[in-house]
Amino acid sequence: MLCSRSTRAVALARRYSNVSSTPSTIQELDRYDNLPQNSRVFSMIQPTGRIHLGNYLGAVKSWRTLSNSNPTSRFIFGIADLHAFTSFKPASELKENRYQAIASLLASGLDTSKCILYFQSAVPEHSELSWFLTCMTSMGQLNRMTQWKSKAQQSQTSSITDEKVMESTKAGVFCYPALQAADILLYRSTHVPVGDDQSQHLELCRNLAKLFNNTYGVDYFPLPKTLLTPAKKILSLKNPEKKMSKSDPVQASCVYVTDSPEQIQSKIRKATTDSIQGDWSFDPVERPGVSNLINIISGLTNESIEETVASVQHLKDHKGLKDYVSELIINEFSDKRQLYDELLKNKDYLDHVCKEGRDSAREVASKNLGEIKSIVGMD
Ligand code: AMP
Ligand code: TRP
Repeated sequence: MLCSRSTRAVALARRYSNVSSTPSTIQELDRYDNLPQNSRVFSMIQPTGRIHLGNYLGAVKSWRTLSNSNPTSRFIFGIADLHAFTSFKPASELKENRYQAIASLLASGLDTSKCILYFQSAVPEHSELSWFLTCMTSMGQLNRMTQWKSKAQQSQTSSITDEKVMESTKAGVFCYPALQAADILLYRSTHVPVGDDQSQHLELCRNLAKLFNNTYGVDYFPLPKTLLTPAKKILSLKNPEKKMSKSDPVQASCVYVTDSPEQIQSKIRKATTDSIQGDWSFDPVERPGVSNLINIISGLTNESIEETVASVQHLKDHKGLKDYVSELIINEFSDKRQLYDELLKNKDYLDHVCKEGRDSAREVASKNLGEIKSIVGMD
């Protein structure tokens, strides 16, 4: 697998700085209902509070489906608390958020006999690999990422070359995608199930994997494919131009797995739609609110958008459509909410689950990091 050190040495410095600075236009996607045998599937979620419908349909539901139905593959799911540290929180709040995140994942049906579940900060190999990859990532590549701009409350056209932007942006927020690439590559993952908003980070991760392999003349990291879930992006209920997000100050825009039936019904009733009468249609440009509800139904029922549009035609008005969506969400979440409450009361059990997950994750991570260090000459 390794080239001889002499052939490597000459090309090393040149290749090292020769990163393709233009992200590839080809989305490396795989269908999530057609996972190849023996895949290594990895994903993470930030512990920034409870899981919402976007997280659930965009990520967690597919984690559950994938890990329950592919016995030959390996599944590792983490709570990205090091990433969450890029937004300051008092220690007690961060600690509680971590418990809420693990309880939400377990309540959403992840089965720890089928997947590893752990906290990122409990596996120090993430930070170590992150440093190697940060050293290989150009500032230009990071500058083109969009997430740091929203996290640092900068406009999407802002650049780190601007003095003011540089002053008000923390280095951790800027380097976040290199840590994310380390998370994925640490387990030599082949597939990463995420929502649409993560596509750019995955592109960077593939570029880094390629760069590492080329630089050291190895075929060590597979190029991880993005597994986009069918419900790629769930939009805000109040402003269907934006994605549904926990950081949205308008709480009615976001349904949580732990919301009561009354809260769910009230939020869906208030969802922005339109006044178009007649047949239901999926048209994200002309009918963003209605299309978002159709997308939600499709994500919950596992029907395609076309099948969903056909199946809602009998609903005669917007209230009927909203009541149907509420009913589906309430049914989907009712048992999860109860389990979540019980789990949160049992922190010893949550600690035990995370400790077991940490040990299993570290076993893989420390072996791989040892190999990576040997490749880069630090063994
Ligand atoms: P985060 O809450 O940002 O840590 O996101 C965790 C996972 O949920 C990632 O895979 C995201 O892509 C996915 N996700 C977050 N918000 C949405 C959304 N509104 N629609 C679809 N997927 C989402
Ligand atoms: N950045 C992701 C988000 O905001 C969370 C994340 C961190 C992640 N590391 C990851 C997702 C690795 C997939 C793989 O949602």
